[in-house]
Amino acid sequence: MPVLAVIGAQWGDEGKGKIVHYLSQGADWVVRYQGGDNAGHTVVIGGQSFALHLAPSGILFTRPRNAIGNGVVVNPAALLKEVRMLEQRGIRVRGRLFVSLHAHVILPYHMALDRIREGGRGAIGTTLKGIGPCYEDKVARRGVRIADYLEPETFRALLAAALEAHKGELGRKEAARLKRETLAAYPALRRFLAPFCGDTGRIISKALSAKRRVLMESAQGAMLDLDHGTYPFVTSSNPVSGGACVGAGLPPTAIDAVLGVAKAYTTRVGLGPFPTEMPAPLAGRIREKGHEYGATTGRPRRIGWLDLPQLRSAIRVSGIGRLALTKLDTLSGMDPIRVCTAYRWRGRLLDEFPASRRAQREARPVYRDLPGFAGDLGSCRRLADLPPAARRYVRWIERELRTPAAIVSVGASHEQTFLHSEGSLWG
Ligand code: GDP
Ligand code: IMO
Ligand code: MG
Repeated sequence: MPVLAVIGAQWGDEGKGKIVHYLSQGADWVVRYQGGDNAGHTVVIGGQSFALHLAPSGILFTRPRNAIGNGVVVNPAALLKEVRMLEQRGIRVRGRLFVSLHAHVILPYHMALDRIREGGRGAIGTTLKGIGPCYEDKVARRGVRIADYLEPETFRALLAAALEAHKGELGRKEAARLKRETLAAYPALRRFLAPFCGDTGRIISKALSAKRRVLMESAQGAMLDLDHGTYPFVTSSNPVSGGACVGAGLPPTAIDAVLGVAKAYTTRVGLGPFPTEMPAPLAGRIREKGHEYGATTGRPRRIGWLDLPQLRSAIRVSGIGRLALTKLDTLSGMDPIRVCTAYRWRGRLLDEFPASRRAQREARPVYRDLPGFAGDLGSCRRLADLPPAARRYVRWIERELRTPAAIVSVGASHEQTFLHSEGSLWG
């Protein structure tokens, strides 16, 4: 019963959408297990670009079925918009997309709370999609799950109780306005959502018993993980592979292999520590070449060199056995290419990402300069086609991280992807 978890190994936007879509041609199910529409997963097919926020990236092939697991936070209005967009573009969604009855619902007041908090001191640069406030309600045991959302009486009572709890922060008038707005949109959203909902944990378990292949698709990445990331500058869920079990409703023994997606350099959106961040002129060059603007918010992404201590932490926590190395083409023209091999902090060398906020802020990268390469890598179709220095860069990373790069990606589209190392990805 093969399950392959595909995990963001950096700060998100590593190219998970592209890689999951690529692999989903050989999968029966693709499952999102955490996050919500803060995610922006880009898939380019035949020159057409799709930005997916809630739908798993398997939705664009006809074969796989797709599940939004219990660990995801679902904004019904955002899902409606995405399903409409996909249908308008000729993608069949109905009967192929399943939403967990156990997933929590993002409501307009969650977005209002996100905006209020981001407007004050202590902002962390969230996507303003209401993700944090929704997970907070889940943990505080006053959240609304999809199963409850589908029952009008239950939903109305839960909404009233939640707004009562938040009225201090929202303000009485605003809480009343949000309630009216939510209830006005509710009947149509409920009608839309109902046919998609089911017990996805059971459905996927059955598929596994029938020896089906399941891909898990993380949103965000290891360094945005609530427990293992650059807290508090993180998202409010667990993108690491352990999150896939809880968030899809599967036991840990179900996961056979973990593929970590990493860019050939590093990016981050939002605030927070970023030890290998580049100076602005250099960052600007990569940002323009690699179109490094958020797929959800359009914000310019911060750019840094590849960070091996950070990747070592990600590999260890998620049990990453293989890497998919993306955007190698974007580094073309950079010479030298810098890579951080360790950090120096208070006279010590650190080989992994430190825990304390202070160390995360103060640690200085120790760099190694590698020879750069030039030319258009976008037409390469196998490792042998790459300029020798690009090939050596890939091999060097594999050796340093003791992890093979099973997939190398040299462009946004499907054909610009090649399987590099031997062996099945599926464990
Ligand atoms: P995700 O959130 O991890 O799915 O990544 P995003 O879609 O937010 O950001 C990755 C961006 O890089 C998207 O615009 C992709 O189309 C693009 N992309 C993915 N792989 C490659 C690659 O190998 N080369 C280039 N040039 N672009 C890529
Ligand atoms: P994908 O799946 C990159 C970042 C935000 C912010 C922090 C918290 O496309 O890789 P949130 O709205 O989640 O409460 O914001 O997390 N963030 C992402 N950064 N890619 C993402 O998703 C992200 N989702 C959230 O910028 O710093
Ligand atoms: Mg993204």
